[in-house]
Amino acid sequence: MEKTEISVLPELSMFFSTLHSQSGEGRSALLPCLFVAQELYGYIPEFVVNEISSDLKIPTAEIDKVIEFYPLFHKVPVQKTILHVCNDPSCKMAGADTVFKMIRSGIGESSPYTEGVEIEKAPCLGLCAHNPSLHIQGELLRIPIADRTNNLLVPSSKHTHTNIMGKNRLITTNCGTGKTCTLMEYWKHDGYQALKNALAMDPAAVIEEIKVSSLVGRGGEAFLTGIKWEKAVIGDQKTRFLVCNACETDPLTFKDRVLMEDDPHRILEGMIIAAYAIQSHRGFIVINGEYELAFQILSQAIIDSREAGLLGRNIMGSGFDFDIELRKQGGRYCSGEEIALLESIEGKCAIPRGKPPFPTSKGLFNKPTVINNVETLCNIPVIFKMGAMNYRKIGTDTAKGTVLVCLAGDIKKPGLVEIPYGTTLREIINDFGKGPDNENRFFTALVGGIAGGFIRESDLDIEISLDMATKNKLSLGSGSIVLFNEKRDLLKNLTRIARFFLTETCGKCSSCVNGIEQQVILINKARSGTITTRDCSKFNQICQEMDRSSDCRMGQFATNSFRSAMEEFPSLFVAKK
Ligand code: SF4
Ligand code: FES
Repeated sequence: MEKTEISVLPELSMFFSTLHSQSGEGRSALLPCLFVAQELYGYIPEFVVNEISSDLKIPTAEIDKVIEFYPLFHKVPVQKTILHVCNDPSCKMAGADTVFKMIRSGIGESSPYTEGVEIEKAPCLGLCAHNPSLHIQGELLRIPIADRTNNLLVPSSKHTHTNIMGKNRLITTNCGTGKTCTLMEYWKHDGYQALKNALAMDPAAVIEEIKVSSLVGRGGEAFLTGIKWEKAVIGDQKTRFLVCNACETDPLTFKDRVLMEDDPHRILEGMIIAAYAIQSHRGFIVINGEYELAFQILSQAIIDSREAGLLGRNIMGSGFDFDIELRKQGGRYCSGEEIALLESIEGKCAIPRGKPPFPTSKGLFNKPTVINNVETLCNIPVIFKMGAMNYRKIGTDTAKGTVLVCLAGDIKKPGLVEIPYGTTLREIINDFGKGPDNENRFFTALVGGIAGGFIRESDLDIEISLDMATKNKLSLGSGSIVLFNEKRDLLKNLTRIARFFLTETCGKCSSCVNGIEQQVILINKARSGTITTRDCSKFNQICQEMDRSSDCRMGQFATNSFRSAMEEFPSLFVAKK
């Protein structure tokens, strides 16, 4: 008994100090407190739930609901250290299943990295260019080929060194060095000069400059950023919030992770300018709970910025006050949806709801809120350094600036590519990615992430643009392109994608749940050769219903890749005699 008290006490005191320092926030402190408890105990013990309940005035049943909703929280003890092996297409194609079996059979024997460790399959870890990806406590692991028979795991460098490629690189200039660009280094590269320029302007002029640049959000919806900011300042509400969406819950996407790990100050500078434009004094960064390294790097960057007078009161002597709170997200795909994101900051389950009202009029704590994603915010300092008119010269008539593409799968040089709009898929895949790997021929590529569409080799001259959807029935979506060579079983990969959506639907809309279930059934039928034409046309009707009555975009795009495969490769969806 005495021994238990001694070992638990320091943990308890740390937990309570966090809880009490946060409790002024009311329910909004719930997720940060749960993360502290999860980290300390490896699960959320009952006494912690009771303490939180009395301190934050939240019924225990509500807290239990939240714990159950987010997969990163556990109600029963699990190993504090979990080794995640990615289970998504890019890593599966690189042999993740074999690696998983190998490690599980050798757990606790061959490597200090597997002692006292639980091994779990996990959705994409944002390391698709380093596959098969294995991740432990924020650290990337690899199995050197020579040691695979001995099942020897060794750590890679803590900071992942992702290939950065492209032309007209504007926002990745400090990325790809294998280390973080510190405040000092960022400053040397003219960092925070854009902020200085913006602070010398009137806030309305800052919004105008972004409107002139024609910057659109890089989160998939392609909404004009300047218009979004303007909407938040209409009306007489004086309290406004700025939220940086750094959830990156889309499998096969890793651009935000790279930007956060390699160049955190560019994101902070973009946020401070955005906050100044809309006159917000409080911002949040909501980061994927699996991105431990990025979390630590951003935390340090925020501390450094405060010390340098770039955050907090009277920023750069301008009289403008703004500060940022970094929040972890509990690991659900739909938490990346705008409204769901705000719900999670408020300490609730991240369940999307229909719009309107839009966050710019009624967002966080019912106040006007601007939500921009990491890549969008990284463009802001560029615009204030080079000027909106010069920024407009990059790209095409209808799409300005550059865009990031995560390149993975069966490709010689996977990594992050920054290209101006107007670049063709062929240039991205062949010039930067160096074409398909090994001797195998290109079969197809999934463009736009798991909710994207498949292309054929004859589509490679399609240009990346904002009107790809109308012109080519394709969208860059979450910003990834994954190659599949001729040896790949497309139906098997579609099964994995369909199962992902089945796990991740929040269950609120029956059309979404039904459509996703039907998708799984149909893919299984296609695999067993029993699918019929009637099945396919019935499924199209189900998809129309999903489009019509789903509360968030997931209901509209969860079947995209399957529908696209049916269209591009109809021979896979016929009954086998
Ligand atoms: S469409 Fe799907 S994920 Fe979105 S709210 Fe409805 S059930 Fe949830
Ligand atoms: S890390 Fe495996 S698919 Fe992204």
